[in-house]
Amino acid sequence: MVGTIEITTGIHWIGALHPELRIFDDLFPTEHGTTYNSYLIKGGEKTAIIDTVKGKFTDQYLDKVRSLVDPATIDYIIVNHSEPDHSGSLAYLLEQCPNATVVSTQAAKTFVTNMMHKPFASQVVKDGDTLDLGGRTLRFIMAPFLHWPDTMFTRLEEENLLFTCDAFGAHYCDVQHIFNDETEDFTSARQFYFDCIFRPFKDKVLAAIEKIRHDVIDMILPSHGPIIRRDPWKVIQQFEQWSKPTSFGKKVVLLYLSPHGNTEKMAQAVAEGAALDDIEVACYHTVGMTDNEIRTLMEEADALVFGIPTVARDIPPPMWHVLTFLSTVRLKTNLAAVFGSYGWSGEACKMAEERLKGMGLKLVAEPVRAVFSPTDEVLAQCRALGAAVSEAVAKK
Ligand code: FEO
Repeated sequence: MVGTIEITTGIHWIGALHPELRIFDDLFPTEHGTTYNSYLIKGGEKTAIIDTVKGKFTDQYLDKVRSLVDPATIDYIIVNHSEPDHSGSLAYLLEQCPNATVVSTQAAKTFVTNMMHKPFASQVVKDGDTLDLGGRTLRFIMAPFLHWPDTMFTRLEEENLLFTCDAFGAHYCDVQHIFNDETEDFTSARQFYFDCIFRPFKDKVLAAIEKIRHDVIDMILPSHGPIIRRDPWKVIQQFEQWSKPTSFGKKVVLLYLSPHGNTEKMAQAVAEGAALDDIEVACYHTVGMTDNEIRTLMEEADALVFGIPTVARDIPPPMWHVLTFLSTVRLKTNLAAVFGSYGWSGEACKMAEERLKGMGLKLVAEPVRAVFSPTDEVLAQCRALGAAVSEAVAKK
């Protein structure tokens, strides 16, 4: 176990390392493990802790706190974000800190209340509120949906330190080092982390960056991965770049699978029908595409059209995989359409229709289905479907 690390006089890293973690929250691969960073700040009069650690590390965490201060002298526990990897130790820390007040957004207060189910002293803060620790001032910057509704940043004004919880972090654990100027470059891990966690909230990332754009920032202290002591603005600019729109013209994106070539014939007819001046039609057979290529196309789309054959009474697994991306991207459209070939039962189009509606998309027209090979009549229906999609896009 690594002990505490003094970042600057009176400010200590008291987090936990989890280098062997390979799947985060049962959801995302973490090739390089992760860290759960927590910080202790001593002011001239008050002491604050910023975020806590995952519950399984509670014992070592409390030992770290006790090694620096008598927990009874802790005045504030700042909860920038209440997800259990940062609040799992909170109830146990509060038991040791009878004089501590939990400082958070209203949403975070509600969330930790529903996690801990026990009373605690609390103070809800809003954008721009400050807390005086005695010679050290904390200012709170609301950053909702980075990546929960409850999130905020905490800035230590006098020293230009920005505590951002998940934002600008990475699932990356270097057991020897805690600062980014001591580690290897981990930009690829940071980008993968961004794609897993922040990609659906790109507009919120850009909004939060606008709030800090004119601040001097000497260090970013995130809740995962190394502290950003070297080039903090480079990391903010990376998040900004990854969040910016990548396409500006109007675009219909057509994604399909076609085990026997039938749905592909339909896709070509839909694409023909969708061809309209000033509208790009991007038509892709998804086999061989990377997840990020598909997600980028989804984000660029002004309409999403899916060609889905029925296999074994279901949407084939590779296309289910594509449809799961709808909740992991920031769509700019709610227009969609579906078509596909089937042999004898043909459930896939109906299933896809329900999935798309469940994700807030609206079908431009009824799905077009073909029994095995599409007839000329079905291909004409496909062209009409494509035309309806592009006309709906043109009207937007
Ligand atoms: Fe690291 Fe959203 O928790």
